[in-house]
Amino acid sequence: MSIYSRILGTGSYLPPKRLSNADLAADLAQKGVETSDEWIVERTGIRARHFAAPEVACSDLAVEAARRAIEAAGIGADDLDLIIVATSTPDMVFPSTATMVQHKLGTAGCPAFDVQAVCSGFIYALTVADSMIRAGSAKKALVIGSEVFSRILDFKDRTTCVLFGDGAGAVVIGASDEPGILATDIHADGKHRDILCVPGHVSGGNVLGDPVLKMDGQAVFKLAVGVLEETARASLAKAGLQDSDIDWLIPHQANIRIMQSTARKLKMPAEKVVVTVDQHGNTSAASIPLALDAAVRDGRIQRGQHLMLEGVGGGFTWGSVLVKY
Ligand code: UT7
Repeated sequence: MSIYSRILGTGSYLPPKRLSNADLAADLAQKGVETSDEWIVERTGIRARHFAAPEVACSDLAVEAARRAIEAAGIGADDLDLIIVATSTPDMVFPSTATMVQHKLGTAGCPAFDVQAVCSGFIYALTVADSMIRAGSAKKALVIGSEVFSRILDFKDRTTCVLFGDGAGAVVIGASDEPGILATDIHADGKHRDILCVPGHVSGGNVLGDPVLKMDGQAVFKLAVGVLEETARASLAKAGLQDSDIDWLIPHQANIRIMQSTARKLKMPAEKVVVTVDQHGNTSAASIPLALDAAVRDGRIQRGQHLMLEGVGGGFTWGSVLVKY
């Protein structure tokens, strides 16, 4: 009999400090940087974001989301036999944030590692966990997207610093006789690496290069709208399903205009798109599991429904996971 994986529980966590666009614009004005609530809402759909306190690390957000997902799955941390954290803002260069999460959850022994695919990170991590479950090498996997993007923003660059926020989302997936994850589809094309990157790195005890986020927003926008349609169609084809079978589209939350454009291409009404970008901003690898958990907990997502999760980000990376919840 084939082994499949299915979602057993979801969880998420946002740090308490919330900044509305007006709050952020007022802070930026003190640095001589001009922006407005009107511009940010019109161009992105973002109204607010959360920023972690300085002493709070990526693993702290991750562990809060993880505890909620573990509780929702009705298991204990010791039942996990795989932990994957998707992040581009790890606690340290090494060891992995996943090992820190494992320790903070009070468990040990199971494999724990990070996946780095920027805003597609959660889709990549879920794909790896699904593959390991289907191969029989794990039975209960914790998959987390967690980010403290506020740490890598240039608050003098208004074209990027208004877009991102901090947070974490998690799922526990488990081995099942019934298909839950129906199809996965992941890609990368490194020739676009420079359009979204943090070019700094550590060498000889110094940070070399600029350790803040750089983005050619328009180039990213154009690539994103193309690949998000392509990858959704690829996952649907692998599962033998049609656009009309999707109950909920849960895309990476970067810009409401990209999300609406993808929905139109998939002939989906706007009401079937789970939107959290307005309240969270772009939380990179955390955005999809944060949105998923919001719609599970408010009762929109019901067991048996088809969910299309899809992400796109630096690398360039992109991909989708089609789920029967
Ligand atoms: O997470 C990974 C995926 N990332 C994305 O998907 C991001 C994709 N890109 C985008 O979402 C959009 O390209 C942005 C939101 C980043 C920018 O929107 P846009 O409609 O492409 O604006 P633009 O870059 O063409 O800038 C338009 C104008 C410029 O002024 P001029 O040259 O027309 O006078 C900018 O200087 O808006 C100005 N501008 C701002 N004004 C006020 C740029 N940022 C701001 C700002 N406040 N924060």
